Amino acid sequence: MFARLTIQVTLMAAIAAPLAAAPPKGAELNVIPRPAKVEVGEGTFELTGGTVLLAEGDARAEAEKLAAALRTATGFELPVRAKAKDGSAIRLQLDAALEAELGKEGYALAVEPAGVIIRAAAPAGLFYGGVTLRQLLPEFIFSDTVVKQVSLAVPEIGGHVRREPPRPVRWTIPCVRIADRPRFAWRGLLLDPARHFLPPADVKRMIDLIALHKLNSLQMHLTDDQGWRIEIRKYPLLTQVGSVRAESPRLGDRRKGDGKPYGPFFYTQAQVRELVAYAAERNVTIVPEIEMPGHFLAALSAFPHLSCTGGPFKPWTRWGISHDILCAGNDESVQFAQDVLAEVVELFPSRFIHIGGDEAPRDRWKACPKCQARMKAEGLASEAQLQTWFNSRIEKFLASKGRRMIGWDEILEGGLTPQAAVMSWRGTAGGLAAAGAGHDVVMSPTSHCYFDYAQSKAPGEPEAIGGLIPLARVYGFEPIPPGLPAERHKHILGAQGNLWSEYLHGRKDVEYFAFPRAAALAEAVWSPAGPRDFADFRARLAVHLRRLDQLDVNYRKETEE
Ligand code: ACM
Ligand code: ZN
Repeated sequence: MFARLTIQVTLMAAIAAPLAAAPPKGAELNVIPRPAKVEVGEGTFELTGGTVLLAEGDARAEAEKLAAALRTATGFELPVRAKAKDGSAIRLQLDAALEAELGKEGYALAVEPAGVIIRAAAPAGLFYGGVTLRQLLPEFIFSDTVVKQVSLAVPEIGGHVRREPPRPVRWTIPCVRIADRPRFAWRGLLLDPARHFLPPADVKRMIDLIALHKLNSLQMHLTDDQGWRIEIRKYPLLTQVGSVRAESPRLGDRRKGDGKPYGPFFYTQAQVRELVAYAAERNVTIVPEIEMPGHFLAALSAFPHLSCTGGPFKPWTRWGISHDILCAGNDESVQFAQDVLAEVVELFPSRFIHIGGDEAPRDRWKACPKCQARMKAEGLASEAQLQTWFNSRIEKFLASKGRRMIGWDEILEGGLTPQAAVMSWRGTAGGLAAAGAGHDVVMSPTSHCYFDYAQSKAPGEPEAIGGLIPLARVYGFEPIPPGLPAERHKHILGAQGNLWSEYLHGRKDVEYFAFPRAAALAEAVWSPAGPRDFADFRARLAVHLRRLDQLDVNYRKETEE
C-alpha cells in the first residue's frame, strides 16, 4: 500500500491555486494547446471517491479510457455506468449533429459544480475533451502512483525553501465552458528509430505524450542507410543483415567510429500491430516511412543486386547520404519495393504511406546501363524524371491497396505524380508549389520543425546535428506558407516536427529535443489562426511543465534561449 501512496512535493508556490477553491481566470486555465473558445464560470467541480462516469454506446469506450486515466493518481473507483444514480458525474455523450460545429475531433466541455459533460460528434472528440479535463485538474493527476497529500515547498528570500505541512489533495476542476476543435488535421511528430532504435515501450510513451498535446500523427522513419527496423516476412535478410551495423559515429566526434556493434534492432510485425493499436486508442495514426530509392543502403546490404553497381555494401556506420541507391532500371527493384509495401499496408491502416524520396543522389543512375535503358524506353529526359517514373509505379501500387503516397519535397523535382502528397522540408517553397498545384501538403520546414536542431547555443546543451530552433521560433510557426492563395489553404493538411535521431541516442534524448518544442508546435497546429503571444504561452507552459514533471519527461528546463 505504501508504495502506491505518494506525498508530492512541489517547488512552486502557485500550486496553492488548485488547492484553494478560488476560480481561475481564463488565462490561468493553462491548457495546452490553447482551446478555441473558453468561458470561465464560478466555482469548481470536485472529483471524489463518489464520482461516476456516465456513457452509452460508442461513448463508453472513451469513458473507460478517461476513467482509467483518472484512477491512477486519485485512487478512486470511478465506475463507468450507463445511467446516473445520485452523486457527482462526468458524462460523455456522442451527438453526430455536432459535427458541423466541432468536426470529428472537436469537443464541447462544460464543467459545473454539480457535474461535467463532454460532448462530441465522434469518439476522437470525447478523447480530446478528456485530455483537456485532465489538464484542468491539479498536475498530480499525471502521477503514476496514488497521490493523497501534497506538501508545498515555498521559496523564501535567501534561497531557503520552507516546506509546509502536507495537505490533502482536492481534485477540483474550475467551472468552464470550452468549445474546441483543431485547426489542422495532420498534427505530427516524426521518430527516427533507423538511426537510433527506440524499443516499443519507449514508442508507447511517446504516443502518450503526443496524445497529451492533442497531436494525432506519428511518422516512423523505419528504414535508412544505417538500419532497417521493420520485419518483412518475405525478405528476412532485410532485418538479419540490415538491422545491424558494425559501429556508430562517436559521441562528441562524429568523424570517428565508436567501435560498438549496434543491433540487431527492429520491430517485429507483432510489435508493430501492438503499437498501431496502442496509438489508435489515443487517436494517433502511425504513418510508416519506407525510404526509396535513396537512404536504402541497409536494404542493399542484404540485396546488393538491387543497386546499380552490385555492391557489396554494409549498413552505414556514418551519418549522411549514400550515393548507392535502389536501381530504377531493374524490374526487380520495383517488384521488391511493392512486396515490402504490400506487407507494410497490411500492418498500418494509415491512409498515407510515406516513401521518403529525399536525398537520392542520381549519379549512380547516370552511370548505370539499366537506368539509362529505362529512361530511353520510357522517353524520360532526366534522372529526376526517372525518379518520378519510379514513384508513379509505387503510387499506382499503393492506390490499388486504397492508400495514398506521400514523400519529401524532392518528389517534385521530376514532376509530381497525380495523387502524391508532399512533405515540405527544404523551406516552404516545395509546399507552396505543391499546394498551389492542388496537391495535399504537410509542412515540416527546417526553419521551424527540425527538432533535432539545437534549442540553444548556450553551454551545456547536448550535441546536436547543427542548426538552432529555439522554442519561441517554433511557437511563432505559421503552417500556411506565405503567398498561398486562400482557395488553396485547404491543401495544407498540417505540420510535423521531426526528431531525426543521428544525435538522439534514446528516449531521454528524444524527450529533451521534443519538449517543450512539441508543446509549441501543438499550439501552432491546433489553436485558431492569429497572432500568438509567446509570453502568454510561457506562462501556461510553466504549469504544463509540472505535468511533464509528473510524467518524468526529460524536457529542456529553460524556456528562453
Ligand atoms: C530530410 O530531412 N532529409 C527529409
Ligand atoms: Zn541503375
